Amino acid sequence: MFKGMTVTGAVLGLAILAGAASGQDAAQKALADATKARQAQMQLYAFNLGLLGGMAKGEVPYDATAATAAAGNLSSLAQLDQSRLWPEGSDEMGVEGSKVMAELWANMPDAMAKGADLVTAAAAMEVAAGTDLASLQAAMGALGGACGACHKAYRVPSN
Ligand code: HEC
Repeated sequence: MFKGMTVTGAVLGLAILAGAASGQDAAQKALADATKARQAQMQLYAFNLGLLGGMAKGEVPYDATAATAAAGNLSSLAQLDQSRLWPEGSDEMGVEGSKVMAELWANMPDAMAKGADLVTAAAAMEVAAGTDLASLQAAMGALGGACGACHKAYRVPSN
């Protein structure tokens, strides 16, 4: 009996809390959803870059068709409208699991320029990847560099 009452009380308490906080919850959920989508976009970058990097290092046999497809994916991904992926408040302090430094929002023009650098490097890779392995290897530095420059500036280092 005592146990049952405690549970009921806890449920009621939670319901009242949830009502009061629902507006705030919705806003927080929107930030968390954007963070998840942003990280998924980054994972797709990494998945496609990984194949090109593997070929560049000779760990994966060079294949012009597969390399062109991966570079084309990177190019398309980089050109997606990302305006909803980076809501202010979704930095490392605002959302659990986010690794974005708040500095990004104070330097939006620079962050967008770094995004544009990735578009340029991915387009160059799309041409190089289908040419031959030497061209792919030569284009790798600028492409990896475009990822790295933004990470260095705006991503919380993972130890
Ligand atoms: C405009 C800036 C920018 C560019 C360009 C960029 N990244 Fe990121 N990347 C970030 C930030 C900021 C984070 C942290 C995101 C977060 O935690 O929400 C991140 C996170 C990641 C993650 C971790 C995702 C996760 O699941 O937590 C991977 C993997 C990644 N990036 C790969 C790449 C690759 C590969 C490229 C290039 C093809 C790239 N990124 C280009 C800024 C960028």
